[in-house]
Order: sequence, then C-alpha cells, then structure tokens
Amino acid sequence: MDHDFVRREEPRLLNELIEFLSIPSISTGTAHVADCRRAAQWLVDQLFHLGCPTVQLIEGDGHPVVWGESPAVPGAPTLLIYGHYDVQPVEPLDEWHSPPFTPSVRDGKLYARGAIDDKGQVFALLKAYEASRDSEGNPPINVRFLFEGEEECGGRVVFDLLAAEPERTQVDAVIVADMSYYAPGWPAVYTALRGLCYAELHVRTLQRDLHSGSYGGVAPNAIETICRMLMDLKSASGKIRVPKLYKSVEAPTKAEKKGWASLPFDEEEYLRDEVTAKALTGLEDYSIFERTWALPTFEIHGIRGGFVGEGAKTVIPAAATAKISMRLVPGLTVEFARKQLEKAIAKVAPDYADWEIVFHHGGDPVQVDVTHEAFRTLDRAFEEVVGRPTVAVRAGGSIPIVPELARGGAPVLLTGIGLPDDGLHSPNEKVDLQQVWDGIRVFGRFFEMLGGK
Ligand code: BES
Ligand code: MN
Ligand code: MN
Repeated sequence: MDHDFVRREEPRLLNELIEFLSIPSISTGTAHVADCRRAAQWLVDQLFHLGCPTVQLIEGDGHPVVWGESPAVPGAPTLLIYGHYDVQPVEPLDEWHSPPFTPSVRDGKLYARGAIDDKGQVFALLKAYEASRDSEGNPPINVRFLFEGEEECGGRVVFDLLAAEPERTQVDAVIVADMSYYAPGWPAVYTALRGLCYAELHVRTLQRDLHSGSYGGVAPNAIETICRMLMDLKSASGKIRVPKLYKSVEAPTKAEKKGWASLPFDEEEYLRDEVTAKALTGLEDYSIFERTWALPTFEIHGIRGGFVGEGAKTVIPAAATAKISMRLVPGLTVEFARKQLEKAIAKVAPDYADWEIVFHHGGDPVQVDVTHEAFRTLDRAFEEVVGRPTVAVRAGGSIPIVPELARGGAPVLLTGIGLPDDGLHSPNEKVDLQQVWDGIRVFGRFFEMLGGK
C-alpha cells in the first residue's frame, strides 16, 4: 500500500468527506427522499471514479441500494463491503454547536450527523480501497460494495435484493464497519449484535376528549391508562414482564463472560462520560456488559396524546400512543418477540380500554464465530497500524441486514473505527479524524493481507 497516501491526500480526503456529510440523507420520513438519492449518487460517482467496471443504483420500494464490483483479480479472494449512507434525524436541533449538515472541524474532530454512523466509516473503506490499488488501478482482492439507505429506518430494499439475488453474498468474507473501538486504542470485533422489535401502541378510553372538571373522578384517562400499561410491562428493578422472555434467552458462555471481565472498564467514568446520568438503572444482578450486550430491553421512545400546547387546557384525553421497542438477544427472534409482547399487552390492558399494537420494523439478533482466519488477518492489520489487535466484544445495537449477510456462510467481520463518545444518534455526533486516517490505513492493509501481500 502507498504508505504516504493519507498524509499526501489529507486535504482532498477531508474535503470529500465533508461533501458526503453535507448531504442530509435522513432516511426516516419523507422529507429527505431526494437527499438520500443524492447520497447514493455520490457513492455511485465515487465507485465510477475508482474504476469499478460494474456500478449499479438499484431501485426498490424505498431508498436505493448502491452496488459496485472491482475489476476482477483472478485467484484472489472476494470481500463484500457493507455500509449505509442514510443517517438518523437530527432533533433536538438547538443542541448542536454547529449545524448537523455543515460539517465542522474542532480540535481534530469532525462534527456532523453521520460522521461516524455510518458515512465516515463507509468513506474510510472507500479510500482504503483507493489506496490499496496498484498503478494500473487494480486492487489486491476482488471487492464488492453494498451500500444501503434504509438501515436507520427499517426499510426492505436491501432485504428484497438479497432475497432475489442471494448470489451477491456468495463471497469469501464480509466486512461491516459500523461500530466502534472498545475504548481509545482498543479496536474491536463483535461476536454478537442485538436485534430489535419496534412497535406503536395505541390506546383509546373515550370516544372524545372530556372536561376534566365535569368528568374527572369517573372518566378513564387514556394517557394515565397507557402509562399504567407501560409501567406494568417492566418492573422498577428492570425486569421485563413479557412471558417466556428470559427463559428463551441464550446466556453467554462462561468463557465469553470471563473475556468481558478482563476488559478495562471504569464504571464511574462510563456513567459520567458516556451515559451522562447520575446513576445506572436495570437488573443489578447482572454486569453492565451483560445488561447492554446479552439481555433484552424494553424502552419507551415517545408518548403522544392529550394537550401539549402552550398554556393549560383542562381535558381528559380520549386517546394516547406510545412508541416502544425491545432489543433482542440470541434466542429471541423478532417473530417471537412480537407474539409475546402482544400477549403481555393483552394481559396488562384494562377492560375499559381499546388498544392496538402496530409493529414497525425490526431485525433478528446475530451471533458471529470469530475463529475464521480472516479475523486474524484483521488483527494483523490493526496491530500493524494502531499497535493492538482486536478484542472480542458484543454490541448492544442492531444492524438488521447482518443475519442475511451471514447466510451465505462467509465470515462477517463486524468492526469499526468509532470511539465510545462519538455520540451516534445524538446531537453533536462526531468522528475523530485520526480514527479516519488510521482506519484508511488499517482497511487498506487488511485488503492487501487478504490478497497475500
Ligand atoms: N451503527 C448502528 C448499530 C450499532 C450501534 C452497532 C451501536 C453497535 C453499537 C446502526 O446504524 C443503528 O443505529 N442501528 C439501528 C437499527 C434499527 C433502526 C433497526 C439501531 O440499533 O437502533
Ligand atoms: Mn450504523
Ligand atoms: Mn445508527
């Protein structure tokens, strides 16, 4: 690999990354459909520019998928690179110190929505590919690029594509860089991702809103009712009251837990700098790693209903809605979670309430065996560039397509160049630029080593 690539090209690379991050490719909702397409087109242009003989913008029922194929390198293995160009919404906007789509460098960090999740990482992989090509523009291995625009919103386009054309994942290895280092200086590979089951619960207790003076004392309040139902679904100590849930969870092995116990971890620092709370909650009998990596969750994301305008309105609300989700761990599929959550709600719903649960998107959890030699190759690349091989950890988050990427039998390397305090999905999301430059070197060396160099 051209060892001077990053140093020499840094100003251009930074400009290109800023250009990519300036596109507000928010996939949820309908306001940014055209921007998502622009981000996809930006990737198409990059792949053309990098000399890929096959570049496709694949349409479906949602935001397009971008597919690219490197020139053929006979005899060399084939690596599939997956990433997503869509980003999360930016609210609350007034908490950003610089606008989310006006990328700004402060103190060696680039602040923008998508800086780390996942555009900055997609960018590092593309530039690693660029740097690893020889003077004729040929890479050391066969590369296929798969970039989707619906990872954050639960779209189906990439699922439909891989269901119709499973041969696209018939490769020797898959790499997904959409995660973080375990800690600064500690690169990671992930042995599991949690799944997700997202739903909206609608509750109605009256045909219309009522005067709270005339009827207060007898009329069932929809917000009170939905709150009681939600409180019944999880105890104050963090136990989720969904039938057969914990019984179905596959517990981590002793060896895995032992590995976690040997990771450097400072609970006070974690509480203060990452969680930013005064205290942790949840099942006290389990470690923080077990609670965030190996156990299911139940969260309330938002409650809507009643009067929330300026001033006061004395009203008993007739209807209320809550957005809720469960994170799923090995042993719990989306299908199972949906069925059991619906049963649990039926149990806690009072007779006087009409309710309906509407399931949105989801994803199954996934477990990855990290013994394949491709993982050792990645270790060597990290060791060479940043001085330490990966540690095996799990992730609390989800990437719905990963189970499909693994279906072809190829090892799936779940890794990334983020840092724990990057603030993905939060205001002031950032990427540490040194992580990007190192990441380009690491992935570039990884490609070369896979090609036997
Ligand atoms: N990059 C994240 C997944 C992630 C987060 C992995 C934290 C490891 C640690 C991804 O973009 C993401 O946010 N996924 C969503 C998926 C959901 C919308 C189906 C998530 O986990 O909420
Ligand atoms: Mn992501
Ligand atoms: Mn995300």
